[in-house]
Amino acid sequence: MKPKILVARAIFPDVIERLTRYFEVETNDADVIMPPAQLAAHLADKDGALTTASERVDATVLAAAPKLRVVANMAVGYNNFDLDAMTAKGVMATNTPDVLNETTADFGWALLMATARRITESERWLREGRWDKWAYDMFLGADIHGATLGIIGMGRIGQAIARRAAGFNMHVVYHNRSRLDATLEAACKASYVGKDELLRSADHVILVLPYSAATHHTIGAAELAQMKPTATLVNLARGGIVDDAALARALAEKRIAAAGLDVFEGEPNVHPDLLTVPNVVLTPHIASASAATRRGMANLAADNLIAALGFGADAGRPPCLLNPSVLGK
Ligand code: DGY
Repeated sequence: MKPKILVARAIFPDVIERLTRYFEVETNDADVIMPPAQLAAHLADKDGALTTASERVDATVLAAAPKLRVVANMAVGYNNFDLDAMTAKGVMATNTPDVLNETTADFGWALLMATARRITESERWLREGRWDKWAYDMFLGADIHGATLGIIGMGRIGQAIARRAAGFNMHVVYHNRSRLDATLEAACKASYVGKDELLRSADHVILVLPYSAATHHTIGAAELAQMKPTATLVNLARGGIVDDAALARALAEKRIAAAGLDVFEGEPNVHPDLLTVPNVVLTPHIASASAATRRGMANLAADNLIAALGFGADAGRPPCLLNPSVLGK
């Protein structure tokens, strides 16, 4: 008998097809997000699950899933997992690192450029038929080239963003839980600074740190007040890292120049005040959404499930295991 798995959201049909070679697969063709109680009901008889960042896997869900051996997240971020509860229950947790680094870094730059040079704001204005003449002061933005870029969170995506900054002759400063070693710092041409110094000195601040209780509201009213009034802020990490209400106020009062947001507190809901301020670029959590990368993420999540449930060369040892202490339990 094949092991049973749940694929909790719609994903590429060919990846589902691949999974059916190994598993009895339950899909979610309506692609509705399952709240924990619903997820628990669907996992009652499952050996594994493929989730996205939208599904919360917590102790309540795990208690209802006695056979569950693995949950494979199709995301590098895994703040939707209660990792301690999964580890205590001996359930393997996996994510999809690396495969999205370059695509996400590209998007960070797209969002930074759009924010600093007011691309979506000016496009809205043009579409509204308001362009009747060229003017010297139309949509004046901030330069990227030669400016100081402050990166908070210098993991693999942060480093990929930093490497791209060399092409714009930028001065790069970063802040991270731990300082990079000298070789990596040199490759990124980035200098380590404290968070306060970064906020005070950067012309453009970009957030790429993982979400946890410790990083909740890393940027709130106090931090926004430290930034230059001409500065921009980009969040492509997770909702909750920025206090969105405080940011909307700072944007409305022009305490910073502009922001670019790909992630939101409580997404897919967006704080209503962010929808009314003009100086913010809003995108629906698409930083990793190139066709090739999203397919790569789905296949890597499938690789993790296949290996975790005992198939292939990595049988029993999924390539992106987040809690190796469960092995041998
Ligand atoms: C990730 O991989 O964490 C992206 O944000 C998609 O959820």
